[in-house]
Amino acid sequence: MAESLAEAVSRRRTFAIIAHPDAGKTTLTEKLLLFGGAIQLAGEVKAKKDRMQTRSDWMKIERERGISVVTSVMTFEYNDNVFNILDTPGHEDFADDTYRTLTAVDAAVMVIDAAKGIEPRTLKLFEVCRMRDIPIITFINKMDRESRDPFEILDEVEEKLALDCAPVTWPIGRSKTFCGTYHLAKNEVRASDTQEIMTKVTDPEMVSHRLPENERDAFVEETLLAIEACKPFDKKAFLEGHLTPVFFGSALRNFGVRDLIDALGEFAPPPRDQVADIRTVQATDNKMTAFVFKIQANMDPNHRDRIAFARICSGKLERGMKARLSRTGKQLGLTAPQFFFASQRQLADTAYAGDVVGIPNHGTLRIGDTLTEGEALVFQGVPNFSPEILRRVRLEDAMKAKKLKEALQQMAEEGVVQLFQPEDGSPAIVGVVGALQLDVLKERLMAEYGLPVSFETSRFSVCRWISADQPAELEKFVTARRGDIARDLDNDPVFLAQDSFSLRYEAERYPAIKMAALKEYH
Ligand code: G4P
Repeated sequence: MAESLAEAVSRRRTFAIIAHPDAGKTTLTEKLLLFGGAIQLAGEVKAKKDRMQTRSDWMKIERERGISVVTSVMTFEYNDNVFNILDTPGHEDFADDTYRTLTAVDAAVMVIDAAKGIEPRTLKLFEVCRMRDIPIITFINKMDRESRDPFEILDEVEEKLALDCAPVTWPIGRSKTFCGTYHLAKNEVRASDTQEIMTKVTDPEMVSHRLPENERDAFVEETLLAIEACKPFDKKAFLEGHLTPVFFGSALRNFGVRDLIDALGEFAPPPRDQVADIRTVQATDNKMTAFVFKIQANMDPNHRDRIAFARICSGKLERGMKARLSRTGKQLGLTAPQFFFASQRQLADTAYAGDVVGIPNHGTLRIGDTLTEGEALVFQGVPNFSPEILRRVRLEDAMKAKKLKEALQQMAEEGVVQLFQPEDGSPAIVGVVGALQLDVLKERLMAEYGLPVSFETSRFSVCRWISADQPAELEKFVTARRGDIARDLDNDPVFLAQDSFSLRYEAERYPAIKMAALKEYH
């Protein structure tokens, strides 16, 4: 029998893994994919990462600096669920990309290195999840190495993140003696990801052949304490973002991964409702809606295509259907939507809310775009952050100015940089959140367009989107400060200030002008 829309939607779990670099995100992703049969051998994700890194010139940056710039999605099925993992770049210079990706997930797995606890990137990413009420499942990784005391880690999560912890499993042994996890509610031991033994922690047999003698009493004591003293799992509090279920394990050694994937299936929410300008769209609404949160070029160097990653918010996407692009009101044929598995892409014949499909295009789609079956609605909430660094692009060959303009426009549409066109006609200014984005821009302009460029400091260092309740007020400000006004890709005005002092000064002089550090795509 054909699956109903509601059934298809309820099986979907779309999540991201958030972590400080090196905590084990790649290893864990790989192990999750192994479970789902999306890959056959451990090492494929990493190997793919390495292969991709050697593919095109601009990715040299990644290779040289050992960072991952590429964000992508991977789909797999396990038990009855369809999982979509959205990968995010770990490096903070690409934070805007990560934040946009987090708008497309319904849950997040927070990976913590058991020896290091909450690290700065974890904290930052957690804050974004909290802003969006994204429920979080915690995986405390690397228990096979020297680690902190589990209670201490839980305390740190509670204190630093103001998030209640409900340990679901407890580690058996530490570092060299780490040999599995104990499920606190089910009284089950998982000695590896395949083996399960129903037992009570107080059963002498349970510890005697697992732990060295001097560790047994302590394990029983602390496990009983964990059961007694820690908060029990509360699904409502979890879904509201107040409580996180905690799993201990070792992604590298296959401990705890299965409990984590089971929890994702069991606890993580199905696709959420999405807020649009005219109404809230429910995941089970019949008509297809989707939004674009990421554009990626160069996925395949043989085809200079651009893939727009779209999160389906409702209905059913069917290959060949026509969609309405809200920004332009024009029709777009979805002839080749794609799913991404770890090692290949595949045409997506049908996709449901929660799924992420790649839509190949030649520049029609931009970040923040909404696609519908005809309804004129626009999803809210894909953020654009005010850049921290503003530069003018200096072209070594002045004859190629037109080509540069086109290239910059494309890079801005992909979200590599932001582009601002000054009102006074002076050369464009590019803005980025992190300096590495400039390196990527430079490499790509050279590799893809043959344009050698350098960057010059501009006299501006701060950028704010401006608006006013009264259009006349905005006009007055724009006219008075014409030399400091520019337009972004959507033709929305920004005020460019030399420093935060002059920004404050102007904000006081023109109280009717709203100056925003964040813009939501529309
Ligand atoms: P990231 O994506 O979060 O940056 O982390 P990644 O998975 O690449 O893991 C970072 C390092 O930590 C890797 O070692 C990886 O093998 C190791 N690691 C991940 N999970 C565990 C674990 O549960 N236990 C232990 N002991 N190590 C773990 P590397 O030496 O940097 O890389 P590799 O060359 O060994 O792959």
